Amino acid sequence: MKIGVPKEVFPGERRVALVPSLIPPLLKAGHEVRMEAGAGFDAGHPDAEYKEKGATVLASRDEVFSTSDIILQIRAAGAAGDAGAADLARLRPDQIVIAAVDPLGNAAGALPYAEKKVTLFGMELVPRITRAQSMDILSSQALVAGYKAVMLAANEAPRLFSMEMTAAGTLSPAKVFVIGAGVAGLKAIATAKRLGAIVFAYDVRAAVKEQIESLGGKFVTVEADTGDAEDKGGYAKEMTEEFYVRQRARMAEIAKDCAAVITTAAIPGRQSPLLLTKEGVHGMSPGSCIVDLAAERGGNCELARSDERVVENGVVILGPSNLPSSMAIHASQMFGKNLVTFLGLLFDKEGNLQLDVDDEIVRETMVTRGGEIVNERMRSILGLSPAAS
Ligand code: NAI
Repeated sequence: MKIGVPKEVFPGERRVALVPSLIPPLLKAGHEVRMEAGAGFDAGHPDAEYKEKGATVLASRDEVFSTSDIILQIRAAGAAGDAGAADLARLRPDQIVIAAVDPLGNAAGALPYAEKKVTLFGMELVPRITRAQSMDILSSQALVAGYKAVMLAANEAPRLFSMEMTAAGTLSPAKVFVIGAGVAGLKAIATAKRLGAIVFAYDVRAAVKEQIESLGGKFVTVEADTGDAEDKGGYAKEMTEEFYVRQRARMAEIAKDCAAVITTAAIPGRQSPLLLTKEGVHGMSPGSCIVDLAAERGGNCELARSDERVVENGVVILGPSNLPSSMAIHASQMFGKNLVTFLGLLFDKEGNLQLDVDDEIVRETMVTRGGEIVNERMRSILGLSPAAS
């Protein structure tokens, strides 16, 4: 098959869907790779590196689309927003597009792909099962975000995170509080720990207590029965308002002594829960910092604004929306690896294209096919009746 990789067009997006080191295995499997000129530049890979690995570099974006059977992108459909609109005219029936598509946040973005009879795969929909771990872009990119969130907080802090015993006296270690201990949160805990901070962490899913502690974090408890806080897929469920009221009070109590708070709490397909109120922020010391990774989805902190730096009473509140892009080299390396591993699922042993919907990963990830939105969760969001099986 001919695999095309266009340059990303979403504002500020530096990642690329394929890094040069992933090209030889694709060629070995019998594919051809076409890169749009400059596609990898912002991720540290000039065109020459792609050519050296055997890809064809095309100056024209139109040509990348018109000559490729499969398009790999970081962002397509809903995830590309208005910036992706110009690509709609470039798509062909039966072309396969594999990318992040923001299926639950912007399901309508996939409708034009259905109209074009494109087969679209949304990589955020890869189920969180062991076999799919190597294809899970949410995990690989959240790891980068968790790491960078701590870097941002440390950069804002007017103090060291580590304890120092010096001739000029002893410096106490910073306290860092991580709220939400999924992939991003666990990486934030590990990163803050490595910088020498004392780390507290909380998650509604009691199952993560052990993981927090194994990273050296101290698990915070909220006096309330979270009951069954986990759904079948291992994600958090929405809690009652009564629980959130208690949680906010407890989060504020811990945050007031902390130099940095990193919030990463999320419930798939919902607004992020509000966990740190304005009042909670007012309890914190000037010079402390909050990095809210959920700011784009409403925010865990009441005062966070997406991609803005807010200062309230001397507390800095950051709401970065695309941290993986700011670490484009490693984020692209992992995103590309996730895509190439997923691509392998779409071919049989003889190397023939076979979209096997009996395979849970293929089925769950497929968004459009044959002119229809086929993903049930997206159909329900869009008010469409369940697909005929
Ligand atoms: P995840 O689903 O692995 O983790 C989210 C965690 O939040 C889960 O462990 C869940 O149990 C927990 N949670 C839910 N409700 C909670 C509550 N009331 N209190 C405490 N914890 C609660 O998600 P992941 O991959 O770690 O991502 C975390 C967040 O970061 C998401 O909002 C995601 O969209 C965002 N993100 C942001 C990026 C950025 O650049 N800003 C990049 C990558 C992810």
